[in-house]
Amino acid sequence: MATIVKRIAYSPIRSFLPGARYHNVRVGVLSSVLSKQTSKHYIFRHSLCTSSGVSTDPTPKVQSTTKKRDYNVGVLGAGRIASSVHIRNILKNRRLNLKWILDDSPAAVSSCKDLLNLHNTPFYTSDDRESLLSDESLDAVFVFTPTDTHADYICESLSRGKAVMTEKPCGETYADIKRCYDMAERVNKPLLTGFQRRFDRTFRDVFQSTRDKALGDLKFMRVTGRDSPRPSYEFLRNTDMGGCNIISDMAVHDIDMTVWLTSAERPISVYTMSHMHDPIMKEIGQPDSATLALKYGSGLMAIIDSDRYAPYGYDMRVEIFGAEGMALAENPRESASVIDVQNGGKLNRLYDSFPQRFEAAFEKEIDHFVDCLDGKDTPLIKKAECLLTMEIVEKGVESFKTGNVAYL
Ligand SMILES: NC(=O)c1ccc[n+]([C@@H]2O[C@H](COP(=O)([O-])OP(=O)(O)OC[C@H]3O[C@@H](n4cnc5c(N)ncnc54)[C@H](O)[C@@H]3O)[C@@H](O)[C@H]2O)c1
Repeated sequence: MATIVKRIAYSPIRSFLPGARYHNVRVGVLSSVLSKQTSKHYIFRHSLCTSSGVSTDPTPKVQSTTKKRDYNVGVLGAGRIASSVHIRNILKNRRLNLKWILDDSPAAVSSCKDLLNLHNTPFYTSDDRESLLSDESLDAVFVFTPTDTHADYICESLSRGKAVMTEKPCGETYADIKRCYDMAERVNKPLLTGFQRRFDRTFRDVFQSTRDKALGDLKFMRVTGRDSPRPSYEFLRNTDMGGCNIISDMAVHDIDMTVWLTSAERPISVYTMSHMHDPIMKEIGQPDSATLALKYGSGLMAIIDSDRYAPYGYDMRVEIFGAEGMALAENPRESASVIDVQNGGKLNRLYDSFPQRFEAAFEKEIDHFVDCLDGKDTPLIKKAECLLTMEIVEKGVESFKTGNVAYL
């Protein structure tokens, strides 16, 4: 419990709110933003798989009904990403009815209540799980607790017949992820893992260029993931200390990109280089910079460069080079203006962090999950993709530990 309270104490939830660099966001401001943005929901809805034409999954729908209805949902975890992103989107989604939130930290509960004006929403602790999940009127559960709790919470929820959307990664190990997806198949309920870049328009355009074979045979891919702001040292001290948390917690997004953009081509090897630039990270024993080199049987080579801190803002990019072309996913900026004067030009800053950069993607992710509940779609991120991503993570960590190339 002390660790949980510390985690929250060190989690700068407020600084992650969209626009938080400019506004001291208070409840009143937030409520007005929520109500103004509700109408946007209809623009995002259904645009994901129809207008982009990306959903090519031939597997049968999980449920047969296509009738839209409201779904009763519960949320596990009221921490940083839940409070700054997901709970707001659940409240905005006109097809979801938030029944309760569960979190074991009184500090997190109090902060979440104040931030989102949730004084009428019941909050529970993990001791109440059994009765909450036994509620037959509950349709789905969102899992936003720390990664080491995911697999158990996901399986508990699925086994009681609830659909699940979880933050990434779905589990800490290959075996955990397999356990979750096997359970989802057994109970025939949707399980969606939240790799939100899949729902971002810029990354989707690049994906489409590979899908359409517009680039020809792929030769090189670079995926850059540099975080902003630097996560708290408390978080970095408590995340996957037996492994390499820059790979398992952060570069896992970039690895998911390689899996998605290659249509799940299996690399033959992974080699990790890393460094601890920050003296506190050195003391913690976890690198703050890492580069992973992936080699594929087709000849494709991929480089993932990952850093815990980019002082100029949240920097997430992709470049793919093929025999017939090149595709880039560049960073959007806080404003698209360019100011040119005699001695040079000026661009606006990159977004500060993930809630701002992926604001629309996170909203689409939730809406896509509701489409899965409706039986209109199946989860965009597939079991085989999540398993391949975790295999690459595990090989990357093996290479980090041995200093050798790890073969898949
Ligand atoms: N997609 C992204 O870009 C992104 C960004 C940040 C975090 N995440 C993921 O989101 C998840 C949560 O991360 P966070 O940064 O919000 O963490 P956090 O520590 O801020 O929040 C987690 C919350 O869960 C609560 N909690 C911990 N153990 C619990 C338990 N056993 N039962 C009930 N509640 C418990 C904590 O009190 C805390 O409030 C992680 O899996 C992380 O990988 C994803």
